[in-house]
Amino acid sequence: MNFFIIILILIPLITFKIYQKIRVPEGLKNIPTLSFLNLVIAIFAKHGMDKRWEDIREVLEKDGIGKIWFDGEWSIVITDLGLAKDIVTKTDLYPKSLLEELFPRSLVAKYYGTNVVISNGDVSLEARVTYPAFRNLPVHVFVESAMKLLEVMEEVDNEPIEVKSLMQRYTLDVLGRAAFGFDFNNLENPKNVFVTTYNELMKDLGNPLYFLLSFLNYFPRTKALNKMAKLNGLFDEIVEKKCESMKSGEIDKKINNGTADLLEYMIQASSDPENPTLTSEELRYNLAVFMFAGHDTTANALTTVLYLLAIHKEIQKKVRDEILRVLGDDLTPSIEQQKELKYMNMVINENLRLYPPAPELQRRYNTQDVKFHNHVIPAKTNLILFVYGIHHSSKNWENPEKFIPERFENEKHDHYAWLSFGGGNRSCLGMNFSLLEQRLTLCLLLRKYEISLPEDSIHKDKLQLEPDNTGTMGPYPISLIFKRNTH
Ligand code: HEM
Repeated sequence: MNFFIIILILIPLITFKIYQKIRVPEGLKNIPTLSFLNLVIAIFAKHGMDKRWEDIREVLEKDGIGKIWFDGEWSIVITDLGLAKDIVTKTDLYPKSLLEELFPRSLVAKYYGTNVVISNGDVSLEARVTYPAFRNLPVHVFVESAMKLLEVMEEVDNEPIEVKSLMQRYTLDVLGRAAFGFDFNNLENPKNVFVTTYNELMKDLGNPLYFLLSFLNYFPRTKALNKMAKLNGLFDEIVEKKCESMKSGEIDKKINNGTADLLEYMIQASSDPENPTLTSEELRYNLAVFMFAGHDTTANALTTVLYLLAIHKEIQKKVRDEILRVLGDDLTPSIEQQKELKYMNMVINENLRLYPPAPELQRRYNTQDVKFHNHVIPAKTNLILFVYGIHHSSKNWENPEKFIPERFENEKHDHYAWLSFGGGNRSCLGMNFSLLEQRLTLCLLLRKYEISLPEDSIHKDKLQLEPDNTGTMGPYPISLIFKRNTH
């Protein structure tokens, strides 16, 4: 009997709770809905961003915003350029949602915590800590890693090379040496424990089930937590090694003469025992986020640009001709020469438009009600800036699916229609780092090789994009042929 009474009480209670979760808030009622079912299908069918865009394109091109129910609440997906501009420029009105608030108890929140990318207010403090490291990039370190890339490629002669993992190994080596003064040596040793643990943890972090059904985060994920602990231990090792290798006062000296690397700036910021700018925990969170933001993104960008050049031979030739003309006998471009590589820069921008490695900007919310056309978006609504949609909308770009580097010739597009590196005062700190890496790599590879796509590639008709579960977008593994050219 008692059992039935409990059931009778529980049923309306649970029904009310579910109603509360799925009820559309008043202000969002008239905003067009993006299908939750399509989203679930996309997740389980492992669709890439291109297929996701096909699903929601019509609504977003018409209205510029759409609402979607996900992870127990309604969010607004945005492609409207006016709203996009406000979101990236008015950071007080549109702060970023912190991971612990968005995904409480999740592995992602535990691993990344609050860091320079995902934080508010004090971020300028953290950004100030890290920003100077990006002003004087150690170009020779980039060149050395690029040379090592050529050596590794040399060993494979005329055979297709899987470029995605090669670029990941390469960009991690560049990041490690240039930002942390640490050699992951991943080009020579693909099975490096750091990297295998990192890759495994990335899979765990990106498991979509935990975002779809957030209550799963209440259950322990022992295996994944062990991997995280192992990786955190390795981060601590990097910091310890760095501290051991430096004589007392050396960091201060390097900071004063502008030659310190990113890790040295962060160690200094955490070294005041009374009042550290970064606690040792925050230092680790920042290492974790830099490891992700600083290499997976550029690896994806390099992979897609090499693919685009492989299938557009005439554009590949134009870039190569430009390299030979601007660089002459120089192997790597100086700062001035990089500016002169105008066509290459257009190719890089167009690649980042077609395949933005960060296809959505990390979630924000509005601190106040926001009026948008006939709608009033209530305060504290989750906002997702859909960069992929903005880059692929025919409202912003003619023939958006076509690879046309020339469209960047006079930069006629709306400033906020190209958000590859974000915008406003929270735009990418590593943009110049990444662009230098991309230009250098293209100079070395195109001078030496002619690149093509094997006849039987799964990417023959269209680049097959992987789901972007970890927050960065790229293709499934892709093999390309690098044939030594006759120059
Ligand atoms: C093609 C390569 C890259 C792309 C497409 C990219 C994209 C982005 C985007 C879109 C943002 C803004 C995020 C937001 O507004 O929510 C961002 C922020 C950031 N990126 Fe990158 N990034 C790249 C490479 C790098 C590299 C190489 C580093 C470091 C070595 C880096 C470090 C950062 C940092 C620290 C921020 C946070 C800045 C702040 O919030 O103040 N990124 N990146």
